[in-house]
Amino acid sequence: MRGSEMRRRAPEFRRQSRRRLPGWIWWLVGIFLLVGLMLFVIHHNQKEQFRPPIVNKGSETEEVFHEKVNFTEELLSSTSFARQLADQMTLAKAYVILAKEHGNLQLAWELSSQIRNCQRLLSEVAVSGRSITQEEAHPIITRLARLIYKAQDSHYDISTTIVTLKSHALALEERAKAAVVQTAEFGQLAAESLPKNLHCLTVKLTEQWLQNTKLRSLSEEHRNSTRLVDNNLYHFCIFSDNVLATSVVVNSTVSNANHPQQLVFHVVTDRIHYGAMSTWFLMNDFKGCTVEVRCIDEFPWLNAASSPLVRRLSEMETKGYYYGGLKTPEREIKFHNPKFVSLLNHLRFYIPQILPNLEKVIFLDDDVVVQKDLTQLFSIELHGNVIGAVETCLESFHRYHKYLNFSQPIISSKIDPHTCGWAFGMNIFDLIAWRKANATALYHYWEEQNMDQLLWRTGTLPAGLLTFYGLMEPLDRRWHVLGLGYDVDIDDRLIESAAVVHYNGNMKPWLKLAIRRYKSIWERSAMRWVMRFVSLTHACNFAVCCNVSLCCPKDSKRP
Ligand SMILES: *[C@@H]1O[C@H](CO)[C@@H](O)[C@H](O)[C@H]1NC(C)=O
Ligand SMILES: *[C@@H]1O[C@H](CO)[C@@H](O)[C@H](O)[C@H]1NC(C)=O
Ligand SMILES: *[C@@H]1O[C@H](CO)[C@@H](O)[C@H](O)[C@H]1NC(C)=O
Ligand SMILES: *[C@@H]1O[C@H](CO)[C@@H](O)[C@H](O)[C@H]1NC(C)=O
Ligand SMILES: *[C@@H]1O[C@H](CO)[C@@H](O)[C@H](O)[C@H]1NC(C)=O
Ligand SMILES: *[C@@H]1O[C@H](CO)[C@@H](O)[C@H](O)[C@H]1NC(C)=O
Repeated sequence: MRGSEMRRRAPEFRRQSRRRLPGWIWWLVGIFLLVGLMLFVIHHNQKEQFRPPIVNKGSETEEVFHEKVNFTEELLSSTSFARQLADQMTLAKAYVILAKEHGNLQLAWELSSQIRNCQRLLSEVAVSGRSITQEEAHPIITRLARLIYKAQDSHYDISTTIVTLKSHALALEERAKAAVVQTAEFGQLAAESLPKNLHCLTVKLTEQWLQNTKLRSLSEEHRNSTRLVDNNLYHFCIFSDNVLATSVVVNSTVSNANHPQQLVFHVVTDRIHYGAMSTWFLMNDFKGCTVEVRCIDEFPWLNAASSPLVRRLSEMETKGYYYGGLKTPEREIKFHNPKFVSLLNHLRFYIPQILPNLEKVIFLDDDVVVQKDLTQLFSIELHGNVIGAVETCLESFHRYHKYLNFSQPIISSKIDPHTCGWAFGMNIFDLIAWRKANATALYHYWEEQNMDQLLWRTGTLPAGLLTFYGLMEPLDRRWHVLGLGYDVDIDDRLIESAAVVHYNGNMKPWLKLAIRRYKSIWERSAMRWVMRFVSLTHACNFAVCCNVSLCCPKDSKRP
């Protein structure tokens, strides 16, 4: 019945619309012609692309190698399906934002689900190294095109478009900056060179530490506090050599906590920054919370015999690996930078040893800002897992195969390449489960396997993905929003709703390079410091400032 009714009505509808909008037909015809032309060109090109290897290279192995498609080239090629999909996806993402702004959640939802399909296809193809076929691409391209058309047509008037374009122009400017920064060498150098005045602050604070014996005995007293081992309180750990950044993390955490006095921070730094860090946290009160500062040299168990990483670092040091002893291509600067392999960065794998009496702890990177009360994280059920983290494969291709070398049988035999990646930076750790699972031993195992850096090149995340494989509990993604150090296009509402925002990437908020849009969030928690700091720099004579000897607590007892 219904079918026949519809059939009866359909012609009327069609006739009506033809009468009203004759221009549409022309549009449709035009689009069909265009698509037809594109398909022809693509088909033609694909045939041509496959010819050269057969002509040029005789051996069969070469041919096999060439058939494995280079995904980067595929994305850059103007005719490939991958490129078309990627372009459409970008447009669709813009319209998701617009649709949400207009409260059209249905459209936003439809667009998002097509974007996800598109990402899934791209990710599959990236793993398998083949190119996308027309049969795979066609339905997604058609559906996306239809939705984009719907979005363009039905909702967004010219003024919206102008506003959007304006904000895009701003974003473009930032992106141009980002593009420069992302190029390996420059970005790395720029990110590494700490602003002079920040360095000066450290020196000033260290000077105070050395001159003021009261500060040192006060710090000794604090070390005996029972609060540091009280499992009824909320414990956080931060491993950093940046006084200002650590201060912002602590300040933003306590400022948003319902009961700041119940928070305990365990800061571990290196011997160079120990004095400055201690002085800063003794001089400033952060709403009555407890801050313990320790020096990495205090841990006798962290030595070359027990830790493969320490062994590798000391081997590298003797080889002069970092500072030009080895001839390395310039673009590999990043991989030989001490910061990337620094011990402080890897301390996250030793949290149960650092805090032997504790049961649960939140780990925070020094480039985050906290915006909500984090104590609720302590009551989240981890289901026996060791670590709680937000997953990162929703918006892009961040699956395990992106971080690890799956050509290595030791990886491919144990790990599923499609496992969703996750992020360090704001994590809850169940230290009881950790000890039970021997996670530190697992970490040592993987570091041993990676002595020649064939499993992964650098960084702590690949090691973390392996160590906590199958031991990770996914958290709601609003707990931890990433990318404020490189992504200029993050949705404002996502940032607002985030419990923690993370400036991962080269454009740290304390550098000139910082992305303007996000800088104020960080500065809000550093305001008083900024004011003090300005007056400090005037008084600071660099030559004199830097003439101080640096030491850890055990050294300071000696004289
Ligand atoms: C893929 O293509 C890009 C750009 O042409 C090139 O830089 C890269 O080295 C290629 N990768 C492989 C694995 O061939
Ligand atoms: C802290 O404890 C240690 C031993 O646990 C003790 O030797 C030291 O005197 C104590 N320091 C203070 C300031 O109470
Ligand atoms: C953890 O390691 C210890 C010593 O290395 C070993 O005795 C114990 O059996 C291990 N536990 C598990 C669950 O692997
Ligand atoms: C990945 O492993 C293969 C096989 O051992 C090796 O030839 C290749 O160099 C590794 N890739 C990287 C980037 O280390
Ligand atoms: C902590 O943050 C508040 C604003 O939330 C700011 O007024 C204060 O100066 C900051 N304190 C320090 C020591 O940075
Ligand atoms: C640095 O310190 C040394 C010894 O402590 C002293 O001899 C030297 O004059 C100082 N240099 C400056 C620039 O203050």
